[in-house]
Amino acid sequence: MKIRPLPALAIAAGLALAAQAFRPDRTNPAVVAEPSWDSPRTRALAQRACFDCHSHETIWPWYSNLAPASWLVAHHVEEGREHLNFSAIDGSENVRKMIKEIRSHDMPTPDYRLMHASARLTEAERDSLVAGLERTFAPHLEPATPVEEHGDLVLPGSPATGIPPQGVTRPLAGAENPVPGL
Ligand code: HEC
Repeated sequence: MKIRPLPALAIAAGLALAAQAFRPDRTNPAVVAEPSWDSPRTRALAQRACFDCHSHETIWPWYSNLAPASWLVAHHVEEGREHLNFSAIDGSENVRKMIKEIRSHDMPTPDYRLMHASARLTEAERDSLVAGLERTFAPHLEPATPVEEHGDLVLPGSPATGIPPQGVTRPLAGAENPVPGL
């Protein structure tokens, strides 16, 4: 049988329209309990990268109005909120899991990063978010990745300068063991 293009197109359009009738729940319930953020910066980074799926402050994108994208987005948000909800903190949060997801680039999800430029954190922003989440959720934990404190600064004591480290003086020639027996 030869498929005539016009009726086929009409049927496809009809189906696409009918699909719009199945509207997923796109609600933002009231905020119940936020973490005691260690700093506004940590919250801002989490908001940029995580809140759309892990809070009650979801900014629903325009395509969340259109089936089938609407079903996908709503499903992500529903599932995301079940696993971790920054608007309904209940003590079950696992900061190690959050850090693992961030470090492995699994969260935010790749498809979400594709659509949301602001969720593409730089390496430095990721470090900042990880350290901030640690201070927020488990202040007693050791930092997962020690932060390089001195960067590229050339400090006294580094081989580049030849200057001895502060507080260390070179012994005078022949001054070793000035007091015999010590
Ligand atoms: C596009 C939506 C989306 C964004 C944005 C997002 N997540 Fe998720 N996240 C999910 C979904 C869906 C799940 C549950 C399914 C899964 O584990 O993949 C989840 C699961 C998790 C889990 C639980 C994993 C487990 O094994 O139990 C953690 C922790 C998590 N996300 C952390 C984060 C953090 C931290 C951010 C921000 C840096 C973030 N997510 C951003 C959708 C998202």
